[in-house]
Amino acid sequence: MPFSPTRSLRAASLALPALALALATALLGGPASADPHTAAAGTLPCDLYASGGTPCVAAHSTTRALYSTYSGRLYQVKRASDGATRDIGALGAGGYADAGAQDSFCAGTSCLITVVYDQSGRGNHLTQAPPGGFSGPAAGGYDNLAEASAAPVTVGGHKAYGVFIAPGTGYRNNHTSGIATGDQPEGMYAILDGSHHNGGCCFDYGNAETNSRDNGNGTMEAVYFGNIKVWGYGTGNGPWVMADLENGLFSGVNPGYNANDPSVSHRFLTAIVKGGPGQWAIRAGNAQSGGLSTYYSGPRPNAAGYNPMKKEGAIILGIGGDNSNGSAGTFYEGVMTSGYPSDATENAVQANINAVGYTAPAPVGGLTPGARVSLRATTSCCTGEYLRHDTADSNAAISAVSSASSSADKGAATWIVRAGLGDASCVSFESADKPRQYLRHYDFRLRLDTIDNSAVSRQDATFCPQAGHTGQGVSLRSANYPGDFVRHYEHAAYIAGDGGSHAWDAAALWADDTSWAVTAPWA
Ligand code: AHR
Ligand code: AHR
Repeated sequence: MPFSPTRSLRAASLALPALALALATALLGGPASADPHTAAAGTLPCDLYASGGTPCVAAHSTTRALYSTYSGRLYQVKRASDGATRDIGALGAGGYADAGAQDSFCAGTSCLITVVYDQSGRGNHLTQAPPGGFSGPAAGGYDNLAEASAAPVTVGGHKAYGVFIAPGTGYRNNHTSGIATGDQPEGMYAILDGSHHNGGCCFDYGNAETNSRDNGNGTMEAVYFGNIKVWGYGTGNGPWVMADLENGLFSGVNPGYNANDPSVSHRFLTAIVKGGPGQWAIRAGNAQSGGLSTYYSGPRPNAAGYNPMKKEGAIILGIGGDNSNGSAGTFYEGVMTSGYPSDATENAVQANINAVGYTAPAPVGGLTPGARVSLRATTSCCTGEYLRHDTADSNAAISAVSSASSSADKGAATWIVRAGLGDASCVSFESADKPRQYLRHYDFRLRLDTIDNSAVSRQDATFCPQAGHTGQGVSLRSANYPGDFVRHYEHAAYIAGDGGSHAWDAAALWADDTSWAVTAPWA
């Protein structure tokens, strides 16, 4: 019989009326409703999974509600200045995050994300991951918490923040309710920043061991994103979406290469893993537009211990099952379901994700690649002083520059903005008078340096601009020490946290010292 789209659509809608209705609503405009802050009934990801018969049992997002009826808390932040915490909620039922509440609570200081709340009603909240089997950067202790303003984003035209996972950062829940165990079927998706990843183990979201230890093959099932090549991999140099099934990241049925698992780096990436008795799949797509592709769908891996699975039902974010925490990435939203979602349900979720419209925030403070700028201190002591390299040595400092200054001083206080060497969505500062020498930190002090190809030096020379901590100018976050910002302290220049352990982390004047006016270039 010839293929008839009308016929098969009708058959599908007879079989799944609620899903078809929800799919049509999602395609016709996503979460839009009369109130710009809220979503139309039935249109959001967990509504769609419920309509498909595979309800969410965990729903995590710092950017929006994932049920059209959810109007509760999305996440909690804790500020550095006094340790106080504040829940950040959704702006109305099915609404976007109230990022303005975070901005005002964290004004003049920095904040960490302490909890990502579960919207499913099952209490599967994510909090600071406890020590696990892995001994690494944060050996023996809890993982770090994410800096709350490190992953700004626009979603549905609203400002929001993602969860920025620098190496050492991780969230977990080892006491969950309703998450798949053993060989039970489940699905999961996550929206990630496809430009933020690394080759450390393991930027995961999903099902893991309840004791934070490696309990053997098949004791996890999580979606992984990054370019570690120790276990599975796909085409190109990565990053790849894979499944972390414990003691292996799987790109397909074989433990190694899957020619059908491409490198993907969409700025906003939808990444999916699902698994049930005898079958599992990897799917992904561009969260901004278009559908999902299936990179693998078929039998369990061709290696011992993964069939049947021995899932334990903890939830991890940003780490491996044994708390391996060398990985990096950014998470905006994700869910875990009970039951193996159909491709049609996932396609409807992807249509809603497309419709909400994730976009990158506009560059802050005119710091666009190619611009020539000077950076003036804003602290009242020093408003005539500019960030510069020393002419005697390569250290950075601030000193007075005026129209009467020598051309050497003017040149030393002028920077050419470049796309960030370690993260193109941030910036690097090339010296205007010392070509190919960049501002970087080393032992937390800022200096000029030629940057080799090592990941560390490229990250050391990368800074992510955001609105100035005092409301004046810009603050420049270190790409690899996300709690630290470019600061002057006793006229020398550092990266510094608000009230950290170094002298230059002093809380007094931290907001002023880390706020820089972007001015016309001196040279
Ligand atoms: O499966 C890859 C990793 O191996 C897991 O995340 C971790 O538990 C183990 O080290
Ligand atoms: O500035 C802090 C660290 O010091 C840098 O990342 C590294 O280059 C040096 O060890």
